[in-house]
Amino acid sequence: MIEDFFLVLSGEHISLPVHECLSILESENIEFSNARKFDQILIFSGPPESLTSISKRAAMVHSCCKFIFKCKNKLKSIYDHVKNIDFKEILADKNRNTFAVRVKRVKEYCEHIKSVDLERKIGKIIKNQLNNKIKVNLEKPDILFYGVLTEDSFIFGEKLLEVNRTNFRKRRADLRPFFWPGTIDPIISRVMVNLSQVSPQTLFLDPFCGTGGFLIEACLIGAAVIGSDIDSKMVEGSKENLEFYFGDTRKIYDFYLGDARKIPLSRIDAISTDPPYGHSSSTRKQNMDKVIKEFLECSASLLRNDGYLCIALPEKFKIIDLAQNIGFNLVKVHEMRVHKSMTRYISVFKK
Ligand SMILES: C[S@@+](CC[C@H](N)C(=O)[O-])C[C@H]1O[C@@H](n2cnc3c(N)ncnc32)[C@H](O)[C@@H]1O
Repeated sequence: MIEDFFLVLSGEHISLPVHECLSILESENIEFSNARKFDQILIFSGPPESLTSISKRAAMVHSCCKFIFKCKNKLKSIYDHVKNIDFKEILADKNRNTFAVRVKRVKEYCEHIKSVDLERKIGKIIKNQLNNKIKVNLEKPDILFYGVLTEDSFIFGEKLLEVNRTNFRKRRADLRPFFWPGTIDPIISRVMVNLSQVSPQTLFLDPFCGTGGFLIEACLIGAAVIGSDIDSKMVEGSKENLEFYFGDTRKIYDFYLGDARKIPLSRIDAISTDPPYGHSSSTRKQNMDKVIKEFLECSASLLRNDGYLCIALPEKFKIIDLAQNIGFNLVKVHEMRVHKSMTRYISVFKK
């Protein structure tokens, strides 16, 4: 059964959350259509399992809702739309007797509307329509109606799932047994792994694996993973981190000590990676332009056709030209400001 849903996305990046959600659906072969983007909102049509996958895997989603309507952010328009909904039908399903209405404002949109007023007024319309046969329960309602004010629109629906992001914080790099400074945090690692279209059936590779942050996230999705690094200390440390989360199983993870330009493998489904750059000691005084170019050539032979590569680098590496010259197709680039003098580009390519 195809239904309309909307996702409330995190505001920590403008384009990554939408791309992450669409990549999850594609990687799990879940058909979806009619995707429409608003600031921190993605509306789409798909089967109910799309929400199960997104809520389990996404790092940049706050909640998943069933879509009921979208209208202009004018009070009259909002109330007219609410009055036209058949709440009796919605509540009859699963025998629900209590409700609450919550309204969230994205950033500073629609400041002329007070969300508390909107919550109260919508609640009143619902109670009136049902002749007061339904009660408000703000703590534990049977059904939570959720409205979002974003851009010039009001989007209304039923909240179905809340995404718990605390586990990402618990996996912070400095809380793992082996820590090395400069490691990308688990939220961005997970997003990058999702962008490379990992699924529980895939074989994932991080050829500059460092402390294993990407490998941990891919393993949690259910993929089998291979990590490699030129530095034995990193290979050992990464192994220690994976053992910490997944025990001593050789089935789901494996490691190589070696150069990312000469990996003796084939038929990898997905690569996501964060090579060293700048003055970091992990560049080991190599000519990193040359390393990146040769790594791309190697990954083009490792990756299966239609496989995805996601890579984070600063602009100076001209990764798009390099990858396209080798035959990769650019899917999307996301710009991420790390600090004042450093912007990282997360690029996604398809072979
Ligand atoms: C920025 S770190 C990767 C961090 C990683 N994402 C993590 O979660 O810890 C880059 C890694 O690339 C490794 N490296 C440097 N040159 C390499 C090469 N030519 N081949 C493979 N690994 C290399 C370094 O030893 C370092 O561990």
